[in-house]
Parts: sequence; structure tokens; C-alpha cells
Amino acid sequence: MHNRLKNIYVSIDKCDVFADIGCDHGYIAKAMIVDKKCNTVIVSDISEKSLSKAKELLKDEIDKGRALAFVSDGFDNLPAVDSALIAGMGGKEIISILKRCEKLPEKLVLQPMKNCDLVRKTVVNIGYKIVSDKMFKDGIMFYNVISLVKGKDRLSEDEIIFGRTNLNSYNADFSEYLKSEIVKTGKYIENGASGTEKERLEKKLELMKKYVDDK
Ligand SMILES: C[S@@+](CC[C@H](N)C(=O)[O-])C[C@H]1O[C@@H](n2cnc3c(N)ncnc32)[C@H](O)[C@@H]1O
Repeated sequence: MHNRLKNIYVSIDKCDVFADIGCDHGYIAKAMIVDKKCNTVIVSDISEKSLSKAKELLKDEIDKGRALAFVSDGFDNLPAVDSALIAGMGGKEIISILKRCEKLPEKLVLQPMKNCDLVRKTVVNIGYKIVSDKMFKDGIMFYNVISLVKGKDRLSEDEIIFGRTNLNSYNADFSEYLKSEIVKTGKYIENGASGTEKERLEKKLELMKKYVDDK
């Protein structure tokens, strides 16, 4: 498994019925069942072609009835699950999937490729609390993995932008991310950002410097 998938995998708790929404290759689903981290695994993908990879990987488990495979848009037409993963999709797609779901699982692990701030705001609004929200690096890319359980929560503006766990405990990858973002943001400003965009970037820069200095 790639480092990105390993980081996601360790964030998923043991459960009864687990669904990997947008599973594509199905590696996480396979590990969940092989490691006995769940009793039943559901692999689903909107693309039949993508799902066929997971079906091939999980052939034995499907034959034994321990894995079920569905072509599905998000949770549409899936049986109820107690835990689900949505990884490797844009934040807006993840939000649309969650908002359409009639029976949301007790636990969720999300790994949005972008718009993490919008995802954070949405999950809290639809009744989840943050268990952990941290950044990790794989190769040259930075990713966020957000673990949630149903409950009440309230996020500060900074937590919405950066992720609570990153702010509350030292994370070398997050620190590296901040340093590189400070350089990038400084360049955008120098290269002629103006008006409200300049104000927004300056505010972000100040905030990032504050967190780098705090560590
Ligand atoms: C980049 S892959 C990520 C695969 C895997 N989850 C991972 O993190 O490595 C995104 C997958 O999500 C699927 N997908 C996109 N939108 C979806 C939706 N609304 N419902 C289900 N699957 C979706 C795509 O077909 C694709 O297989």
C-alpha cells in the first residue's frame, strides 16, 4: 500500500459493516477484511470500470459473502453501514455525497483532495464531531485525513482552515506544509495580488506565521 493509503488505513477503527465509497482499486477494503477490522466490507464506485478492479481484488471475499460490490453514486442504494471511507475525491464531491445520504454512518473517514475547509464546515453542520484531523505528506504532496464520529462539535475559524489536530499537537509534515505555503503566499502577494484577494492572502500569511512560530 502507498503511504497515502497507509495513513488513511490507520485512521479507520474496527467496525461491523464498512463501506469504501469511490473504492477504485479496493486496497483499503481488502486490508479491512484480511486484517479482520470489519466483518463485512462494501466496495462501491460510480464507475463500473473502477469497481471491476476492486471486484477482482476481493473476488474470494465476494464469493464467501464477506464483501459486496455496488456501482453507486455515493451511498445511493447501498445497505446501511456503520463506518465509511470517502478518499481521493474533491471536497465538493464528498460534500454532495454526504448531503444526499439518508442514513449517514456512525463513523466516517474522509480524505479530500481539495476544499478541506468546506468539508470541515459541512461535517460539523450535519452532525459529526472531529476525532482527528491531521495532515501528512506522501512524496511531494500533502493530504488531510479527517476522522469523524456522530456528535456535536464547533470549529474555530483556524480549525476550519488548518485542521484541529494540526493546531493542537506538533506535526512535522504540517510544519513543513506551513513553511512552503508561507513562501508561496508571500510570492503571490509580491507578484501583484490586490484588493480583497491581497487582504485575504495577508491574513492567511499572518496566521501561518503565527502557527510556525508557535511550534
Ligand atoms: C482518485 S480515485 C480514489 C480511489 C480511492 N478511494 C483512493 O483514495 O485511492 C476516485 C474514485 O472515486 C470514484 N467516484 C467519483 N465520484 C464518485 C461518486 N459520486 N460516488 C462513488 N464513486 C465516485 C471514481 O470513479 C474513482 O474511482
